[in-house]
Amino acid sequence: MRKVVQNSSLISPLLSVAPMIDWTDRHCRYFHRQLSPNALVYTEMITTGAVLHGDLDKLLGYSDCEHPIALQLGGSEPEDLAKSAKIGEDYGYDEINLNCGCPSERVQKGSFGACLMREPDLVANCIKSMQDAVSVPVTVKCRIGIDDSEDYPFLETFVEKIAATGCAKFIIHARKAWLKGLSPKENREIPPLRYDIAALLKKNHPDLTIILNGGVNTLEMIDGLMPDFDGFMIGREAYQNPWYLAELEHKLFGTPLPDRYAIVAHMAEYIESRRISAGMPIHSTTRHMLGLFNGLRGAKKWRQTLGGEAHAASSAQSLFDVALAHLIGEEAA
Ligand SMILES: Cc1cc2nc3c(=O)[nH]c(=O)nc-3n(C[C@H](O)[C@H](O)[C@H](O)COP(=O)(O)O)c2cc1C
Repeated sequence: MRKVVQNSSLISPLLSVAPMIDWTDRHCRYFHRQLSPNALVYTEMITTGAVLHGDLDKLLGYSDCEHPIALQLGGSEPEDLAKSAKIGEDYGYDEINLNCGCPSERVQKGSFGACLMREPDLVANCIKSMQDAVSVPVTVKCRIGIDDSEDYPFLETFVEKIAATGCAKFIIHARKAWLKGLSPKENREIPPLRYDIAALLKKNHPDLTIILNGGVNTLEMIDGLMPDFDGFMIGREAYQNPWYLAELEHKLFGTPLPDRYAIVAHMAEYIESRRISAGMPIHSTTRHMLGLFNGLRGAKKWRQTLGGEAHAASSAQSLFDVALAHLIGEEAA
């Protein structure tokens, strides 16, 4: 285990990349870091059961450049969460986040995720014991409500009870979770987005850091929403159109836009070194890079080549050479 100390007060709330199971693994986060030096990146949700009984290096390992990085935990047992948070802190994570927004049936069976919004006292206990165990910030990601909860009062009661523990940062996915009848995917699309409710929370609690999540996918939206929030967490758009992250980084931090070809060259080095040192298959990283050229001519060729040929490629560089030749050929056509 190793610990890279990061001063949490230096981590900007402005931009973060959402926790996304099966998507935001360490290779994805490494790639996203090339596009945004300042975004706070989140792990996939990792259950306390996995942290307490699993292969820690496999579950929690990451590259130093991924800082600032937050560990998202799934669980509802204060003691297990405290132990897991401490393990995360020892691994050098800069923030520990509790998932109170996932509506999947599997997660509901484990009595955590979005169904925790019904139990603010339990969540407050969980957060308190995590805070007692670690010195990095402990934060919450939640929905605006669940099922037929009242629009605003439900959210405010939930947040106030948890804020009373000293928890100061809440990431609000600004739609309800419907716990019966919708798949997790539908639960990210069907319940309407209510930015007004999340904004009211910030207005009534200016001392809390309120991060807006859900459907933020254009630069123009940021202008309109900026006055009402401390920052934005971006999920699907960052994954499917990674260049959006670079544009947000440029807009929010003034960082010059990077060169996509230089990123590809850097990723080739990363993939090769991990292929040689850890036997990592090429596609486990290239699968996250399919959208890098979206919006440019030739983007489809890039996606097709990476998607179709990664399994058979002898090296990342040779795969990228072919993919870029196709892309450039298409651009020139
Ligand atoms: C594939 C996928 C996996 C997700 N896994 C998680 C997760 O592990 N933890 C979590 O809190 N939210 C998870 N989410 C929800 C996102 O973090 C985010 O709240 C949601 O996608 C809305 O943001 P967006 O509209 O910017 O995508 C997941 C979303 C997707 C698309």
